[in-house]
This record gives sequence, structure tokens and C-alpha cells, in this order.
Amino acid sequence: MSINFESKLPNTATTIFTVMSALANEHQAVNLSQGFPDYPADAVLKDLVCQFIKEDYNQYAPMAGVPALLSQISKKIEHSYGWAPDPAKEITIATGASQAICSAISMMIGPGDEAVIIEPAYDSYAPAVIMNGGKTRVFEMLAPDFKVDWQAIRKLINNKTKLLIINNPHNPTGSILDENDLDEVENIVHETGVYLLSDEVYEHLVFDGREHQSILARPGLKERGMAVFSFGKSLHATGWKIGYFIANPFLSAEFRKIHQFTVFSVNTPAQHAIAAYLEGNIDWSKLSGFFQKKRDLLQAGLEQSRFIPLNSAGTYFQLYDYSGISDLPDQEFAKWLTRAFGVATIPLSPFYTSDLDQKLVRICFAKKEETIQRAVERLLMV
Ligand SMILES: Cc1ncc(COP(=O)(O)O)c(C=O)c1O
Repeated sequence: MSINFESKLPNTATTIFTVMSALANEHQAVNLSQGFPDYPADAVLKDLVCQFIKEDYNQYAPMAGVPALLSQISKKIEHSYGWAPDPAKEITIATGASQAICSAISMMIGPGDEAVIIEPAYDSYAPAVIMNGGKTRVFEMLAPDFKVDWQAIRKLINNKTKLLIINNPHNPTGSILDENDLDEVENIVHETGVYLLSDEVYEHLVFDGREHQSILARPGLKERGMAVFSFGKSLHATGWKIGYFIANPFLSAEFRKIHQFTVFSVNTPAQHAIAAYLEGNIDWSKLSGFFQKKRDLLQAGLEQSRFIPLNSAGTYFQLYDYSGISDLPDQEFAKWLTRAFGVATIPLSPFYTSDLDQKLVRICFAKKEETIQRAVERLLMV
């Protein structure tokens, strides 16, 4: 039988996260590869979702989100960034940040359009651009500092460029953008007229006293900026897949056109539970300390190892240089480490389009202390 089928993503294989987690399971390895916590979510939050299910909040939610949650998010954003988005017109609940990113890219990109992406990049950006007939232009940040050269970004922008995508704090490098970077972003948006998609899922995970620079704190980015967030990251519940999209009423209306035909609406009891949980006035600033302690435990534990840490200023990831241990390319090294020493990490090269091997692996430290310690004991033997 001949099948006349042209793949929209011919070069896409199973992601490295799936590959490494499967290998971790096969070898009973300590899994520091995929970015999710191995400790429980807050019991209050868990009880709330059970309560709303029992109270029969079990039918479709409104398309843009449960009003109580939209209003809590508006308050949260105002508290963090000094601007209260209109819950009715500027916030949309999504099935995780992933869906928000995909829908935002679909709304911006059509055949022949271009998007500028900064690599190493979270793996969903480029496929979403390509699925919509677009093309990516890539700026490569390099170790050890992973700085963006904004002048080089300007050079990638042409009359086909619709979208610039930034991710701050940055997965997988743990780097963060400072105020000067955001000034540059704002200038670029004004000079060129590109739209901006800012992935800020790790907004509360910024360390060493530094502050997260959200695009939402900048009135000058309101016309063309769109930001996405994830309760999976901020509430230690990645499996709930609840995130949100914030942009001005015009962009939000366009986003909702796509949203209503892809997911329509998001899990009702979980939205109510999060809304009720947020009413409890959560101190988000505690999250940084919580994760910084884990980063420090990992880094101190590995001080006597042959792994060299790179700076992790945010997220729950840290890159480690293994060039003093092996010449293997990073994907080979990560697999070998899992098989031979029982610790699963993520190699950095799959986050780049080009064949760039910097001998770095990403370690996720969103883990219980005993998990980190168990991994450290094994990594000290490498
Ligand atoms: C940078 C970045 N963006 C988006 C996401 C997706 O978030 P969600 O799980 O809410 O879909 C992740 C998850 O790992 C991420 O690291």
C-alpha cells in the first residue's frame, strides 16, 4: 500500500527527555534528567482539588478560564510586576505553558514567516514554528556565560520576522536576563515591530538575591508582548498541566480563537483548586530560597567531584562540565553515566539545531534532599 503522506515534522524523533527517562527506569538510575519534582505537592492544594471534584465542579470550564482563577492571577501579576491584567480580556488559562506556547506561535506564524529563537532552546518552540509553515532563525548562546548578543539578534530580523521568542529564567542553562537585556529587548521590539513571546515559567526561581525581569513589568512591551507561565512549575505539580497566557486584549482575542478550537477549556476542578489556594496569599518569594538550597546542596556535594559547575542563577537546572572526565559526545556521555553510575542527566546538545558539543549535561535539582545526596554519592565515584 502506498501512503501519500508528508510529515509536518520529518526530522522530529523521540525527545531526549523521554529517551533519558526510559534509560533511567531501565537501569534504576537516580533520575535527575526530566524537570519535575520527586517530592509531594502541598497537601492543602491536593485536598482542595479533591473537594472541588466531590462538590461536582466536573463539567467544562469557561473557555478562557474559571473567573476566580483569572482574578487571582491578575492579583498575583500586579503584586509581582506592578500591573493588573484584565481578567476578562488579558489572561487565558492553558493546558500548561506548552499549549500556550504552541497556540501563541500558531497565531503568529504562517507559511513563509520567520521566528527568532535563542538556543539552547526549550524543545517545543521550533517544531511549533515549523508546523505552521514558518522558519526559525537561531542565535546561539555559548558556555560558560550563555549571554545574548542583542546586536546579533537584530541582524537575524528581516521583513519576514514575526516573532522573537525569549525564555527567562532560561532552561536548560539556568541563566537569567537582567534589566539591560530587557532594555535591549524593548528597543528591538520598537525598532523592528516584531512581536515578542516571553516564556517565564520559572519566574519565581531566581537565586542569589537577583530579581526576575518580566516583560509584564514594562508598559512599553504591552502592545507586542505576550507572556506564558506555568502552575506546574510554581506549585510543584507539573502533571496538572495548567498554565496561562497574558497579553493585551487584541492579542488575547486572537490567542483565544486558536485556543477554543484546540483545547476549548482546561480542567475545571484543578482551576478552582488553584484559585482557592491562591486566595491563601502565598509567599512566592519563598520559592527562590527553597530551590537555592537544593542547588547549593548539589553544588557543594559535587565540589570534590570531577564535574565542574556552571553558574545557575535561576530555574531548577544546573549545567555541569564533564570535559575533565571524558571525551565522549554529550549524548553518549549521558547514556554512559546512566548505565555505568546510575544517574540520569540531560545532554545539552539536543537543545541546539547545530551540532554543538560543549561537553555539558543538565542536572535537575527539583528533588528531595535524599535524592540529591544519592546522586552526589554516585557522581563522586565518576
Ligand atoms: C522553558 C519551559 N517552557 C515551557 C515548559 C512547559 O511547561 P508546562 O509543563 O506548563 O507545559 C517547560 C517545562 O519544562 C519549560 O522548561
